[in-house]
Amino acid sequence: MQSEICNLKLVIKSFGCQMNKLDTALVGSSLTKAGFALTDNVKEADVVLINTCSVREHAEQRVLSHLGHLKHIKESRPDLIVGIIGCMAQRLGEKLLEHEAVNIVCGPAQIPQIANLITEAIEQNEKKLAITERIRKPAPQHDSDALEEFESACRIEDKAIPAQAFVRVMHGCNKFCSYCIVPYVRGPEVSRPPHAVIDQIRKLADAGIKQVTLLGQAVNSYEYKAADKTWSLADLLAKAADIEGIDWLKFVTNYPCEKYFNNILRVMAGSPKVCPYLHIPAQSGSDKTLHAMNRRYTAADYLALLDRARDIVPAIAVAGDFIVGFPGETDADFRATVELVKKARYRNCFIFKYSPRPGTTADKRLEDTVPPEVKQARNVELLAVQQEISGELSRDFLGKEVKVLVEGPSKKPHLNAPENGASPQLVARTAGDWIVVFNGPASLAGQFATVKITKTSPLTLFGQLTSPVK
Ligand code: 5AD
Ligand code: SF4
Repeated sequence: MQSEICNLKLVIKSFGCQMNKLDTALVGSSLTKAGFALTDNVKEADVVLINTCSVREHAEQRVLSHLGHLKHIKESRPDLIVGIIGCMAQRLGEKLLEHEAVNIVCGPAQIPQIANLITEAIEQNEKKLAITERIRKPAPQHDSDALEEFESACRIEDKAIPAQAFVRVMHGCNKFCSYCIVPYVRGPEVSRPPHAVIDQIRKLADAGIKQVTLLGQAVNSYEYKAADKTWSLADLLAKAADIEGIDWLKFVTNYPCEKYFNNILRVMAGSPKVCPYLHIPAQSGSDKTLHAMNRRYTAADYLALLDRARDIVPAIAVAGDFIVGFPGETDADFRATVELVKKARYRNCFIFKYSPRPGTTADKRLEDTVPPEVKQARNVELLAVQQEISGELSRDFLGKEVKVLVEGPSKKPHLNAPENGASPQLVARTAGDWIVVFNGPASLAGQFATVKITKTSPLTLFGQLTSPVK
């Protein structure tokens, strides 16, 4: 098999969340091992894989428009192999395979098979489908074993950002928020064995990784029953913090609930390696809407969790997600969301317009009543409220020194005007996930540094390098 695919050129395009980026890294490294050569150029590619997202309709439309483009390319290059992986592959399956441009459809749980699927598609000149038939059933043991083996064996260092990596601690989701497609495309919650996660982090540390972000759809639901004890995310963080070479640990995304909350916050308070950053989506500030979303807390419960988090870790930076224009959301419901955002004092918020997803309970039972222009206006208003708060919080940094992990040169060359000769504009982040921009040598990428903040905007801190630090 190896000889057939040796030297084939491969493009992987990735849409969606961190979980998808991690799958893209896994697939990329496994295919490189199998003999493929990665490229960014579709024109010279033999195989194009698209890792897809189904969370909002817009993300799916972008993939479909890409497929339109690839269909056009295939008219002159019929041998080009196009594979769809990820959430859209699982959601649409056979229907996606019918698309003229598509040769392979491979769900998130089937990515260990991707090299074989490509080889078979080429050798047999046939379309290939590999998805989970009954997505909410626990996976057969051999499939989970294959996934675990694949996950542990592949290198997942982030090529774009030196010294950082993402590590999945669990698959799937059991929360069934009524708007959300994830439980239907990523299947039931399965926590990875703690030793597998810890071994993986150790290997990453040996390879020079300094910051690891633990990933799960509701990462604080992590729970693994071993013979001697039940592991929570708090236990996992504490164990990971013992690993030499790992300096910063982050974890996303949290579901607002009591279970293990205090334990996780206490580990954060007690370990300088566990970054004081909590991404904890509220989605709405209206109890009526939260109930309709099947979120299992009230606005008051949520704010009480934030108060407690700030009691335990005073310096904590909190981030959130909101959906505006959920079915039945009235002006009064939206006002409640605005109030919650004002009280929560997030460092940053991600705000989305409700997008009905086929198969979810909200789509089946609730009419998409809020007109697009109202969704848009609420989105803009909530962003402005948050912008004000982010602006106030960022101004607190003026004149202070912050420790950052440098990601690399700014991706906006028009902003990349060196103040002093050859020193480019670098982008870095603090432990609280604030973005910091400053001029410094490109060799600082992947290193810690201290920066004195001289200017702020709501989302970015600007400053001057005071010293590189270990
Ligand atoms: N419409 C809009 N936003 C959604 N999200 C999840 N599902 C939908 C949907 N159907 C948002 C939630 C979640 C984030 C990843 O995406 O805010 O936290
Ligand atoms: Fe979707 Fe809710 Fe699970 Fe998050 S917790 S992935 S919003 S179902």
